Amino acid sequence: MVNLKKIKDEFLLKLNEKLNLSEINLIKTELFGKNGLVSSEFKKIGTIPEQERKKFASDLNIVKDELQELINSKINEIEISEINEKLKKEKIDVTLPERSFVQGKIHPVSQTIDEISSIFSEIGFNVEEGPDVENEYNNFTALNTPDNHPARDMHDTFYLDKNKEKLLRTHTSPVQIRTMKKDKPPFKIIAPGRTYRSDSDQTHSPMFHQVEGLHIDKDINMSHLKGCLNYFIKEFFEVDKIKMRFRPSHFPFTEPSAEVDIGYEIKDGKIVIGEGDKWLEILGCGMVHPNVLKNVKVNPEKYQGYAFGIGIDRLAMLKYGINDLRSFFECDYRWLNHFGFDPLDVPTNYRGLSR
Ligand code: DAH
Repeated sequence: MVNLKKIKDEFLLKLNEKLNLSEINLIKTELFGKNGLVSSEFKKIGTIPEQERKKFASDLNIVKDELQELINSKINEIEISEINEKLKKEKIDVTLPERSFVQGKIHPVSQTIDEISSIFSEIGFNVEEGPDVENEYNNFTALNTPDNHPARDMHDTFYLDKNKEKLLRTHTSPVQIRTMKKDKPPFKIIAPGRTYRSDSDQTHSPMFHQVEGLHIDKDINMSHLKGCLNYFIKEFFEVDKIKMRFRPSHFPFTEPSAEVDIGYEIKDGKIVIGEGDKWLEILGCGMVHPNVLKNVKVNPEKYQGYAFGIGIDRLAMLKYGINDLRSFFECDYRWLNHFGFDPLDVPTNYRGLSR
């Protein structure tokens, strides 16, 4: 009994000192190890006279529990403070910039869209957007392309339902409809974005990009269209002179309609825009058909204007010397590193578009 009290007092004192984990473990072995002080007391139980045995065992258990509890709580305390210590040392300020900075690149298509938007915004065009999933009405009917019109077949449309009511837009022209439906004239907008047709080879991709242009006001005529496109092409290719020709064509939503070619030649294996006697088609355009205006409740007696649709990917290929359209969409990091642009160098007309 005396022994038990001595053990208890001695170790309660010891355990109240400031200890580290290995010191506590040492104490633990001293008490509860195979030959530990408490373990040895347990071995004595059998030798205790019967009338004292029960009390001895009970006291011994109480002392054992008390010491064990204290040891466990000490261990727990130390572990928590060690974790906190570690966390303090390993603290990371996530708001700091990276030490080894890997800079991403802007895709040539995004760069081209930024350049086009910058050029047109300089002359008063706003940028509009429409959804990739369109309805059949906006994509065709409202654009004067009724059911059974042959132009519908030419578009190789991806329909999204059996009734052919929802589709992936085959061109950006439905943004004309959306814009004119929600506002009042005049309109002066461009709408860049993704377009889809079931077509795939070196110069066609099932997903490609177009930019739509629309200018509706009183007294707008074809010379405005020509002037606007001439300005755009010169700015885009960053040249002073451009050879450009309008070829008669047909689109249901414009009358008259034209396709625009630009002159080019091959010099030392490279395309040179604006010179030479070869022609390259880059866009479709025309004067907006009165039926289109009627469909969006704009009075064609009062208002008229022009529209155009430009293939963005082709412009990017021409300007940046990329000869396979499919490479745009392969997500090859090496390709992007070579053809991509500095994200901090935003194209503007006055600072230079691509320099
Ligand atoms: N939407 C036509 C296409 O994808 C391109 C086009 C032609 C757009 C003439 C126009 C336009 O706005 O006036 O083939």
